[in-house]
Amino acid sequence: MKPFIRIGALISGTGTNLQAIIDSFNSGKIQGKVIFVGSDNAQAKGLTRAETIGIPTFVVDYNRIIQEYKNYSEQAQLPNDFVLEDAFAKQSIYPKSTPREKIEFFLKTRAIAECNLLKHMNSYSYDLIVLAGFMRKLSPYFIDHINSASAIPRIMNIHPALLPAFPGTDGYGDTYRYGCKIAGCTVHFVDYGEDSGPIIAQRAFPILETDTLDSVKTKGLQLEWELYAECIRLFSENRIQLVQKTHEKDRKSVIII
Ligand code: GRF
Repeated sequence: MKPFIRIGALISGTGTNLQAIIDSFNSGKIQGKVIFVGSDNAQAKGLTRAETIGIPTFVVDYNRIIQEYKNYSEQAQLPNDFVLEDAFAKQSIYPKSTPREKIEFFLKTRAIAECNLLKHMNSYSYDLIVLAGFMRKLSPYFIDHINSASAIPRIMNIHPALLPAFPGTDGYGDTYRYGCKIAGCTVHFVDYGEDSGPIIAQRAFPILETDTLDSVKTKGLQLEWELYAECIRLFSENRIQLVQKTHEKDRKSVIII
């Protein structure tokens, strides 16, 4: 019998990747279910998709948390288990040359928001967290909470470019505007950097003379839906391993067994 995987999803928008994951459970391609959907955005259409079929949802209002911190930072309640120096040393989203206040602002506001996410998530037992168009960077505070009890990372992301090229929020746009002849998408584990974690799998397609940015996005999304489900299936079957390559001292790579 195939193993059964319980997935928690975090989204910010339309949720077509979420839908593709749900469909792959419904069709029996993967044995498992999406047990909750969380969002930073109460208007995310993906929340309605989930609610319509009875998947529990929750929202953590990042904008409000960040604004409150800006207005009343001296009264901010940081989580009891948040250790600023630890998060500061681990994070690699910002280069170390970035002004310290900027990094601290990011780490503190995210810890408050992520602590709220974790409070919601704690009532569920999940095997894997998938970011399905979740447009917020995660900090070491959250990542360590999720990964602490597991040898393999437990947060996956889908990115709309062939990493390590074009990290950030507009992968297809950046690829298209650069004049690339090949575009693609990447599924990777989340680490302490921006779109920098171990790559699990990628799909590529040619950008034709006749393509527009919209057609590139459409083609890319269709590949994302297939690729994400495939990676979740591999994870559920314990077929994803992390290895340390001898030439890469600080980095681990994924192999599929
Ligand atoms: C996808 O292109 C994904 O790669 C990116 O955001 C988009 C989300 O789309 N991170 P959807 O919400 O799954 O439709």
